[in-house]
Amino acid sequence: MRTQVAIIGAGPAGLLLGALLQRAGIAAVIVEQRGADYVLGRIRAGVLEQTTVDLLERAGVGARVHAQGLRHDGTELAFGGSLHRVDFQALTGRHVMVYGQTEVTRDLMEARAEAGLQTWYDAANVAISGWDGGAPKVTFEKDGVSHQVECDFIAGCDGFHGVCRASLPAGAVTAYEKVYPFGWLGVLADVPPATDELVYANHERGFALCSQRSRTRSRYYLQCAADDRADRWSDAAFWDELRARLPAAVAERVVTGPALEKSIAPLRSFVAEPMRFGRLFLAGDAAHIVPPTGAKGLNLAASDVGFLADALQEHYGERSDAGIAGYSQRCLARVWKAERFSWWFTSLMHRFPESGEFGARMQRAELDYLVGSPAASTVLAENYVGLPLA
Ligand code: FAD
Ligand code: PHB
Repeated sequence: MRTQVAIIGAGPAGLLLGALLQRAGIAAVIVEQRGADYVLGRIRAGVLEQTTVDLLERAGVGARVHAQGLRHDGTELAFGGSLHRVDFQALTGRHVMVYGQTEVTRDLMEARAEAGLQTWYDAANVAISGWDGGAPKVTFEKDGVSHQVECDFIAGCDGFHGVCRASLPAGAVTAYEKVYPFGWLGVLADVPPATDELVYANHERGFALCSQRSRTRSRYYLQCAADDRADRWSDAAFWDELRARLPAAVAERVVTGPALEKSIAPLRSFVAEPMRFGRLFLAGDAAHIVPPTGAKGLNLAASDVGFLADALQEHYGERSDAGIAGYSQRCLARVWKAERFSWWFTSLMHRFPESGEFGARMQRAELDYLVGSPAASTVLAENYVGLPLA
């Protein structure tokens, strides 16, 4: 096979890039190691920045997010037994959209299928080569048959554990990493959300988050030990612990029900620099990870592929490689700001056993300051709704 861009990975980054390239008249194929149902079944992000919704529109898949997404004009911070609202709309004139990653993925997959674009699911032994010269190539096996894709560029949209970053020679990449001493235990349930907006709770028993997918489906998270296992948590134990970490007024409104999904995600900050190596680009979780507290991971994946689509459009349409040359720097400028915000918000909201009572008092002082100062609230709000694309 021959194409212009070979995309590795059919997560949100790969699928959105495919849709943006199609709109620009650039040919691409996607090679994904898992099945489509597995990709759709992964319950992950829930909060979209306006810039991400704009990109979905640009990709031609904005209709359902507008019809079914829930517009949130603010969020609640819970500490000291009460709720404190941060009003994004009043502070920044912007809002976020609550719309699940699975829905984003479904919209993009359906549009791709309708347009008859090629996605190779269940591809085994995916390997890349030639990106450092003029002849990039992707090889894989499907149902025991070997395939080869020759292309102009490879887009590594294959997540944190993917093959693209792992194929780079030692010394080509510098990695910056911080691993947090805890994880998030998440539960999805078909119960109405306890509150209209999200609640981020700092509590002495640990962080808790009330999120949602619709008016009838809730997503809740609890800070847990890094080595905990989801199967150690009964549904009843989860709901009891959640209520124990929320202010009474919220706890009494939590509706419980069977968990549709229960899993633990580790928390990590990670950046790989640079994000381009000759004709290979990294985008999304393949290049960087944020702890989920700031709801930035999917949004960064989207802005990366927006920049990449711009660069490729410039290459093919205007015969200029300035966008390709500047891709890494353009992405990383935004990535590091989101890394800083996600690290800061994680540090503020979680229990860090090693920092003791002094650390807890510092958090409390900062939270009091945050909700009492319009300047400090604005810093939170403008980062949460998403910094402008530069
Ligand atoms: P992925 O979604 O990881 O997709 C990569 C794809 O590549 C996968 O389908 C994988 O199977 C495939 N792949 C891997 N290796 C290979 C290979 N060798 N060959 C071919 N294909 C391969 N972000 C937000 O913005 N807001 C939130 O509210 C939020 N909440 C989150 C909550 C949780 C619990 C978690 C875990 C994450 C959350 N995130 C959130 C982060 C967000 O889910 C990720 O940043 C996002 O999925 C990144 O998309 P991606 O396409 O880059 O990578
Ligand atoms: C989610 O709904 O899954 C979600 C929401 C906000 C976050 C993280 C995850 O900060």
